[in-house]
Amino acid sequence: MPQGILTAPSPGNQKLQDSSCVPETDETNTAGVKEASGTMLRTGVRLLALALCVSAGGDFDWTKNEKTSFYYGTFPTGFSWGVGSSAYQTEGAWNTDGKGMSIWDVFAHKKGKISSNDTGDSSCEGYYKFKDDINLMKEMKLNHYRFSVSWPRILPSGLRSEHVNEKGIRYYSDLIDLLLNSKITPVVTLYHWDLPQVLQEKYGGWQNASMVGYFNEFANLCFERFGNRVKHWITFNNPWSISVEGYETGEHAPGLRTRGSGAYKAAHHIIKAHAKVWHTYDMKWRSKQKGLIGISLSADWGEPVDVSNQRDVEAAERYIHFYLGWFATPLFHGDYPAVMKEYIGRKSGQQGLGASRLPVFSPQEKSYIRGTVDFLGLGHYTTRYVTQKNYPSSFGDSYFADRDLAELVDPKWPDPGSEWLYSVPWGFRRLLNFVKTQYGNPMIYVTENGVSEKMPCTDLCDDWRMQYFREYINELLKAVRDGVNVKGYTAWSLLDGFEWDEGFSERFGLYFVDFRNKNKPRFPKASVQFYKRIISSNGFPSQREVESWKRKAVETCSSSNQLLAADPLIGHMEMVTEIVVPTVCTLCILLSAVFFMFLLRRRL
Ligand code: BGC
Repeated sequence: MPQGILTAPSPGNQKLQDSSCVPETDETNTAGVKEASGTMLRTGVRLLALALCVSAGGDFDWTKNEKTSFYYGTFPTGFSWGVGSSAYQTEGAWNTDGKGMSIWDVFAHKKGKISSNDTGDSSCEGYYKFKDDINLMKEMKLNHYRFSVSWPRILPSGLRSEHVNEKGIRYYSDLIDLLLNSKITPVVTLYHWDLPQVLQEKYGGWQNASMVGYFNEFANLCFERFGNRVKHWITFNNPWSISVEGYETGEHAPGLRTRGSGAYKAAHHIIKAHAKVWHTYDMKWRSKQKGLIGISLSADWGEPVDVSNQRDVEAAERYIHFYLGWFATPLFHGDYPAVMKEYIGRKSGQQGLGASRLPVFSPQEKSYIRGTVDFLGLGHYTTRYVTQKNYPSSFGDSYFADRDLAELVDPKWPDPGSEWLYSVPWGFRRLLNFVKTQYGNPMIYVTENGVSEKMPCTDLCDDWRMQYFREYINELLKAVRDGVNVKGYTAWSLLDGFEWDEGFSERFGLYFVDFRNKNKPRFPKASVQFYKRIISSNGFPSQREVESWKRKAVETCSSSNQLLAADPLIGHMEMVTEIVVPTVCTLCILLSAVFFMFLLRRRL
């Protein structure tokens, strides 16, 4: 048992799990349980091969959790530093220049779905301000910028055969050109959750296998138009969230609650769509364009509550396999993690279903899917303690109950922003080492890492964010020294943006965006200066230097704070110049005209 841990479920988990009231039962989850038809591997040889690949965390050493002190040192030469964003979270211009509707446009416009009924209609107005934003990136001396293409902005109905919106293409093309002129490498995500609404309405979105072909057409168009300049492609961002929050809990668009099955079906199609796009690139474009195709998977780390208790270790491992392994294991090894097949298959059997709720890959599909990642994008924010907890089959179909575990947090962990996000830096190094041992030490780009704030009033002196970056990036450095093959790091995010169901109430940005002002001005938080120093030093050169960074960063933010405080005044002045002055002028002109006519009449 970790010292001093108060094993309380996190509020974020309660929201997701809605299961804390379920009594523990005596059901066991031993290997001898019933296997549902259709989920087990077909031959003994395959079973053995898969068990070797996906069982027991490879040679990951669960007992070796060194929480060592801060490490002073630098990253390998050529390590890439970047920031990230996504289309719906920042672009705005939701119905401009021929853009079609996405499932997020529709979802956010429904009352009660998003905190304060916020929408991404205008958000940061990134569509109009990308030149300014690239200037911010240049000042930070970034190596790469990760952004996403809005599918309905370039294919309004989702289908290439119907209409290609050239204005949308031009927007991304200009963005890419300007990045390259500024010596910033574009890292482009094809799908950051904004599916064309038409595809949701006509086919049921990711529930339908036809999405594989449509996504492939869209990706192919992007390779055709942008691939001469873009060399780093990410097919999907965080498919866990697309599946679970879109189709299990319904907190995200399209807001469906097809519990215990919809998420597995969506994930199945997403994995196939990813593989298809990788093959398209491999066959049609790779030799000319020489780029890389990856996927960005998100995962929290799961640490056993009691590392000497085998049941806790297995529960933690299940937690990670149901999160990361769900997608990574098929892509690296050709099939779902054995533990998912076993648990979901057994529970489906107990629920009287003829087949597992987890779909099955055919042997051809397995070999088609295996090995379709040139690099693994990894999004990581937080950690949980995990312990074994059985859910009775009477609980019904549920992704969360399928895992038979409980998530716990240490109340001592700092949680400055989103209720699910506790700062636990050592979990990052553990996760990276787990990936190394499980998936053959693939090339990794950290595609997201950062922390939010939730504050009634603005504070640009974001001490907690600097602390978070300092410690998480240091654990990343330790992982690199452990031999994990990490090539780059992407801080999430460049700007405060539309934080999905939380609207604008949670801010992840290095830059503060004043959403009340229609010009959406950006103000640097202290963490901009701090991150800039990490970049220019390529890590943490010496204690003396690193210790001065925070102090120096805070010096700059107090004056920016004052600027921001003056912002309502600026807003007031804008109102004076934009409304009051023109109105008064028009009135004066009118009055003069009337007066002039009056004079003329008197003269005549
Ligand atoms: C998503 C981001 C989001 C972040 C924080 C990630 O999984 O990809 O879009 O801002 O989580 O909630």
